[in-house]
Amino acid sequence: MAPPAVAGLALSALLPADTLTAPPLLQNESTQPGTVEVTLTAAPAIIEMAPGIVTDGYAYNGMIPGPLLEVSEGDRVIVHLKNELDEETTVHWHGFHIPAQADGSPFNPIPAGGSVDFEFEIPEGTAGTYWYHPHPDMVTGHQVAKGLYGGIIVRDPDDPLPAMTEKLLILSDNRFLEDGSVDLPERRSMQGRIDFENGREGDIMFVNGQVMPTIPIRPGEVQRWRVVNASAARVYRLAIPEHELVHVGSDGGLFEKPVVTDELLIANSERLEFLVRGTAEPGTKTVLRDLPYDRYIPQTRPKNWDQPQDLLALEYTDDPPISGPEIPATLRWIEPLDPDEATVERVFVLTQGFINGKTMDMARVDETAELGATEIWTVENLVGMDHPFHLHGFSFQVLDRNGVPEPYRSWKDSVNVPKHETVRLIVRFEDFPGLWMYHCHILDHEDEGMMGVLEVR
Ligand code: C2O
Ligand code: CU
Ligand code: CU
Repeated sequence: MAPPAVAGLALSALLPADTLTAPPLLQNESTQPGTVEVTLTAAPAIIEMAPGIVTDGYAYNGMIPGPLLEVSEGDRVIVHLKNELDEETTVHWHGFHIPAQADGSPFNPIPAGGSVDFEFEIPEGTAGTYWYHPHPDMVTGHQVAKGLYGGIIVRDPDDPLPAMTEKLLILSDNRFLEDGSVDLPERRSMQGRIDFENGREGDIMFVNGQVMPTIPIRPGEVQRWRVVNASAARVYRLAIPEHELVHVGSDGGLFEKPVVTDELLIANSERLEFLVRGTAEPGTKTVLRDLPYDRYIPQTRPKNWDQPQDLLALEYTDDPPISGPEIPATLRWIEPLDPDEATVERVFVLTQGFINGKTMDMARVDETAELGATEIWTVENLVGMDHPFHLHGFSFQVLDRNGVPEPYRSWKDSVNVPKHETVRLIVRFEDFPGLWMYHCHILDHEDEGMMGVLEVR
């Protein structure tokens, strides 16, 4: 029996709205245990990309962001990918340690109207937050801006964190012309040049494709938030006023120990996990905010770069406080890669649009690594803006930044290299020979060739 209408009204007036939409799960078509088999279709879509802005966009399975791929360590994954776009595409599983032919790199384009089956296994120890996006040669930024990106969660059957409300926040920004189309200027126009310099930013900020959604929280509650930075270029400096954030993980999953902090920096393509403790009073409201972060060359720095921007509302219920779950002091052990075992050291010099003075050539192999080798890579940024450096296929550990040892270990696949700074990382090419890419993950830079090819053999 339906409750009386008046009671219903009173109830909804008390509860903060819960408006953040979680991307729906990709349906598993397999009945075999340990196998996840899904179908992903990239296609044009007339879709409301921002409130009141109907756009001629692209979407995976008709939605932006695309559906969530959720798998567990050890799973066998089969993805039937259909390309219904009028152009070539690929799907890259950003951060996954899988064979090169399943990487979805520009070496394996899927023609318009074509389809391909990806098959790979999720290695043990890689539980964490990842994402997928197109990676065709020279037009990745364009396809992501039109709406192609989606989240991935890899679960650990023995997750060390207690069960709690979990949110996935996929951050992106975009810009539209008056007719509703995505603003993708000619490369040689003035805005095109600024976009190439800075990396394209938009004035509208999205969380899971929504503008300023609301997350409710009960006083005392602890929530687990996973964040993906799917922006082409924007670096977010996240904070919740008067709240501590308990940083528990990054690209490749959980840290060894939680780290308490006031703010978190997340460059494009990076991920992080943190816990939000509901320490404010019942009935109060706050926001998740993006604080100013100067990643820019002064000449092309956006006018409002020093203005904080709100991303979502966090609203406390009126309920009396509960006591949240106990957070373990140790989350897991991360095997340290040993610099004494490194047999090769390489230097990658980043300048505006170039790596080691070169732009991408698909027919050239820039670096050759031996299967099984441990290597130290020095990534040196010579110019006055940040460049986030990403390596396909292999997670690494940051050793030091500007000579300062990294305070704690974590598995990374992208690392922001701030203006005029040097980051040293260590990586082991234990398996999966083949051709891999490394590049700046500012999509405009990547598309213009700030990328190289690594052959592992
Ligand atoms: Cu997010 Cu080459 O990748
Ligand atoms: Cu990648
Ligand atoms: Cu760059």
